[in-house]
Amino acid sequence: MKDLRSYLARLEERAPNELERIEKEVDPEFEIAGLVRKFQEEDEYPAVLCENIEGYPNWRVLTNVCASDRRIAEAIDSNVDEMLEDYIDRVENRNDPEYVDDGSVKDVVKTGDDASLNDIPLLTHTPAEPAPFLDGEVFVCYDEENDRYNTGIYRMMKKDKQKTGVFFAQGTHAYSILGRHEAEDEPMEFAAYIGHHPAAVFGCQVHTIDDEYSAIGGVLDEPLQLVDCETVDLKVPANAELVIEGRVLPNVREREGPFCEFTYLLGKERESPVTEITAITHREDPIYYDVYNPYIDHVNHGKLPMEADIYRKAKDAVSQVTDVYMPPEASRTVAIIQVKKEYEGIGKQAAIAAASAKYFPKPIVVVDEEQDPRDLADVWWAISMKTRPDRDFNFIKDAYVEDLIPVATTGEGWPNTDGGVDTKVFIDATKPLDVEYPPHCEPPEEVWKNIDLDEYVNRPAR
Ligand SMILES: Cc1cc2nc3c(=O)[nH]c(=O)nc-3n(C[C@H](O)[C@H](O)[C@H](O)COP(=O)(O)O)c2cc1C
Repeated sequence: MKDLRSYLARLEERAPNELERIEKEVDPEFEIAGLVRKFQEEDEYPAVLCENIEGYPNWRVLTNVCASDRRIAEAIDSNVDEMLEDYIDRVENRNDPEYVDDGSVKDVVKTGDDASLNDIPLLTHTPAEPAPFLDGEVFVCYDEENDRYNTGIYRMMKKDKQKTGVFFAQGTHAYSILGRHEAEDEPMEFAAYIGHHPAAVFGCQVHTIDDEYSAIGGVLDEPLQLVDCETVDLKVPANAELVIEGRVLPNVREREGPFCEFTYLLGKERESPVTEITAITHREDPIYYDVYNPYIDHVNHGKLPMEADIYRKAKDAVSQVTDVYMPPEASRTVAIIQVKKEYEGIGKQAAIAAASAKYFPKPIVVVDEEQDPRDLADVWWAISMKTRPDRDFNFIKDAYVEDLIPVATTGEGWPNTDGGVDTKVFIDATKPLDVEYPPHCEPPEEVWKNIDLDEYVNRPAR
């Protein structure tokens, strides 16, 4: 049975450099985030497991898990080159959950006044955020209208030991489900599980109207084992590290945020729904799973699901699509589509099809098979050498992108920047078929490949 611990064991066996264990005592306020930031300064992006948390003797904290492609690939038993296809296969092979009577997430059960967020080492990442946030929790609610479980990550801001704010963006199913409860003036029950196999965390990003526990089981490649909650009529993964149960109060809005966003900028302060916590259950020695929100870990928790969505939509329309990549450095607002150019116009058609996936990409760049979408220098070379910008840059004005992009407007044009409307640009950087390209130039291969540099230069031993 897969869980967070089986994943960590796999990493230590197959890719030990991907995980840093920190034995020194650390403070959940700023210090753990500061540690990740320091690694970033050194151009290192390990998962960080802190084993000694100041003020929380029984707890460990894990963060930055998705900050490397290798760790994401390991989560779906794949490798970096094949993980997109493997992920798509898994999403398409759903696994219905199984029901069990008990699980390690019930080692400790706290209800009523005993259930307190004060007992959990919630992280504060940046001083601009007004309180600690839960941001790696998979928030589960029931969608009565479609008779299915709905899941997603919706950050929760701690307000009190049993109270949080929670933010549901308008396009999410959770937003609509809450709306239906609010129309009846009734609370929406929820359970949030924290700390599970990463495939059972980022698997919640599958955007479907089918049962999302079954979709997560697909990404995990085995059924999730579910157990009853204590105080709400929901089921949660039995081998999670921690579960928080509660209700979202109907028609209550309070100030929430700002939160450091996937744009790598501080987000907006909003009027958001409020939750009331009714139970907390966890393992005897829980690992608190955090998403390092100011940088790549945050983006990468949603990157593969978004690439898969774009790949499917583009491929359904243009069978010559061969790859999709969203550089995390651009906060997954840029999509690079690779095609086998068999006829003229295919690049533009692929971009149009890709734009029918979720609204995030703003520039959509289409490149030939000879370009590696992951090699951004190569993509830039193609943009410069293969486009005739007056023909190959096409703009779609006033499309919905995302209201956290600072230049996005309300639709009334500049300078009304409080909305999500912006211009999308399709860049067809495939080679025009009517242009003859000179060859790339290199010294003879039999010469440079046979050179042993040590015979030419004195270099320190590596
Ligand atoms: C790390 C991370 C944090 C996220 N935070 C939020 C959030 O605070 N609010 C939100 O609406 N979506 C957030 N999302 C995106 C949703 O989880 C995602 O759109 C999900 O598929 C929505 O599911 P649903 O439409 O089934 O409700 C986040 C995604 C990630 C990866």
